Amino acid sequence: MSKPILDVLARQRAVPPPVWLMRQAGRYLPEYRALRQKAGSFLDLVFTPELAAEVTLQPVRRFGFDAAILFSDILVIPHALGQKLEFVEGEGPRLEPLADRHALQRLASNIDQTVLAPVYETVRRVKLALPANVALIGFCGAPWTVATYMIAGRGTPDQEPARTFAYRDAETFAQLIDRLVVSSVDYLAGQLAAGADAVQIFDTWAGILPPEEFARWSIAPTRRITDALRRRMPGAKVIGFPRGAGTNLARYVDETNIDAVGLDWTVSPGYVRERIRIPVQGNLDPLALLAGGEVLDRSVDAVLTAFAGGPLIFNLGHGILPQTPIAHVEQMLKRVRGWNE
Ligand code: CP3
Repeated sequence: MSKPILDVLARQRAVPPPVWLMRQAGRYLPEYRALRQKAGSFLDLVFTPELAAEVTLQPVRRFGFDAAILFSDILVIPHALGQKLEFVEGEGPRLEPLADRHALQRLASNIDQTVLAPVYETVRRVKLALPANVALIGFCGAPWTVATYMIAGRGTPDQEPARTFAYRDAETFAQLIDRLVVSSVDYLAGQLAAGADAVQIFDTWAGILPPEEFARWSIAPTRRITDALRRRMPGAKVIGFPRGAGTNLARYVDETNIDAVGLDWTVSPGYVRERIRIPVQGNLDPLALLAGGEVLDRSVDAVLTAFAGGPLIFNLGHGILPQTPIAHVEQMLKRVRGWNE
């Protein structure tokens, strides 16, 4: 049986389009919250294959999505480089901030694959349990986005610490990015070897960069990852998600060699139709999903009208919010699956 998502990644249009949601395994699901409590910490959940596999499968079982996304986090890379990582309840990730070149030198030059072995075991388990027509998507954070957390030690509204670091000491920052490129290739190759059908590179903070910085810190490292990955794993399918790229999107697509691009909800359909020649993924506003009702129906239709004439993977424009009602997800799916234009 074929996997509709892989058909779309091979540039075939599917009607209705296949659908999954960024952050589909998570706190909006009661079964996730129950298992999360049982696991103890978030990292325990990520590094216990039996539990991580179960959490990965939960949304597929409940909603029949066309893809499962591996349950892990983009910050397991700094963790596997030796940077101390913790997830604080109700607040988010905390890392020991990388203040300068000396802090960088204290980190390993590549990931410790034994630390990440449980993640690959999760991939193998999920792969065995998934229906034949459901794709398994692996992922990593893009070097720029991961670096913003490594330098600040936490999420910030504007990534000021990393942006200032990159301006003040571009040489050291480039060394950090290099390390993340190599680590990401190893990590994604590990996921593909374990059975992932495709991988997504989350560049959640790409949109905050001016055009030349965007080219240097988002586009160039992503290109190096896709090229190195395909040398090692020929035919590897890669989805890029440069959130907030705006009118830099076409350049990102042209220069990164990705197979499909994730759109956030701010991009104009006309721009995409004119400038983007590869399959797209997205781009329902997570707040429209949260709102529900007629607004949700209209927003779903707007995505389908804009993009379902070509190869589209229906998704959100960013992750699902924890307070999203399950009934709204069901309403969205019904609407997408009823589409037959
Ligand atoms: O369902 C899925 O999409 C798979 C798992 C996944 C998680 N994080 C699990 C998670 C994926 C793909 C991510 C990606 C991720 N992690 C990104 C990029 C995409 C995005 O949403 O912007 C980023 C920036 C991170 C870093 C991160 N992890 C932050 C900032 C936080 C705290 C904020 C939050 O949402 O709580 C996390 C924690 C995290 N990662 C949770 C989950 C389910 C919540 C933790 C919990 O259950 O307590």
